[in-house]
Amino acid sequence: EMLEKGGYEHFMLKEIYEQPRSIHDCMRGRIYPEQGKVQLGGLKEYTEKLKNVDRIIIVACGTSWHAGLVGEYLIEEYARIPVEVEYASEFRYRNPIISEKDLVIAISQSGETADTMAAIELAKEKGATIFGICNVVGASIPRITHAGVYTHAGPEIGVASTKAFTAQVTVLTLIAFYTAQQRGTITQSKLIEYLTELNTIPQLVEQALQVNNHVHAIAQKFKDSANCLFLGRGSSFPVALEGALKLKEISYIHAEGYPAAEMKHGPIALIDEDMPVVVIATKHSSYEKVISNIQEVKARGGHIIAIVSEGDKEVREMADYVIEIPQVSEPFVPLLATIPLQLLAYHIAVMRGCNVDQPRNLAKSVTVE
Ligand code: G6P
Repeated sequence: EMLEKGGYEHFMLKEIYEQPRSIHDCMRGRIYPEQGKVQLGGLKEYTEKLKNVDRIIIVACGTSWHAGLVGEYLIEEYARIPVEVEYASEFRYRNPIISEKDLVIAISQSGETADTMAAIELAKEKGATIFGICNVVGASIPRITHAGVYTHAGPEIGVASTKAFTAQVTVLTLIAFYTAQQRGTITQSKLIEYLTELNTIPQLVEQALQVNNHVHAIAQKFKDSANCLFLGRGSSFPVALEGALKLKEISYIHAEGYPAAEMKHGPIALIDEDMPVVVIATKHSSYEKVISNIQEVKARGGHIIAIVSEGDKEVREMADYVIEIPQVSEPFVPLLATIPLQLLAYHIAVMRGCNVDQPRNLAKSVTVE
């Protein structure tokens, strides 16, 4: 088993460290930066559909649902198509309004999740076109969808999803850019710029992983917390949800993710010195707003762990701990900001003596309702 773990103590850590590779594999043969071209073989026959569709519905569960939320931000921003993201388990039981005009994207690492499969069957009966984004080649979901894109992240053994999530986000980024190009909602020069940057993301993820020792030290400070809050805005909001899910599922610390501005509608009542708050505060469109959210937490004695862009000075002055990630354009923040949150959850769980690869009560794939 040690051999399978490639020298890492746990599969989860190995899979976290595999992300430069898995993201690279996921993009291979799909992006051509010099030509400003995205090629998604699996969706080729459906290019017209993508170009003309009025709305997209994303269905998924768990971490895959979080990837879907990132996808919503990206597709709406760049391809300008309205997107709804649904829990498969809710979608399937509420007589959803769906027709042959709709496009459904089902996201699943395993390709076997029962609720996601049922949601697909239902949408199919109503005539919708279904795309799959799956990791396990030849699984059930890729077999029942009309078209799809594999994430190619390689086998994921740790129950808590890590590299599959960043690969799903990568595929959704590709779909957003591809669709934007088809619809003419992005300029060719902007696309070339973004694809060129996307091509460097595996290296930047490698760089982001270098915070590991620093995150380990921070984990030491917060390992005995009973609760933890994760905040983010824009596409960093789903990253906050994912950070909270990682922590709760493997360390059993109660954790919640919130859009930073929603804090004042409830969670702020919980803030005191025993409530660490992890904030994604990178230098992007909502930077100033997030800074005021940080001040609100500080004013109530809360401890801030901030994920910031490299070289940031402003947040450093306010936060108790900062973790830097490389500076990237806005669409790529989720891919990088996720990394330190995975490491934080991992180290805290290990320090608490938890079984990180196989947390209690959880299964890698949920094939029953
Ligand atoms: C389980 C796993 C999660 C996963 C979710 C959805 O809860 O523990 O890691 O995100 O199922 O699984 P899927 O294979 O459909 O992505």
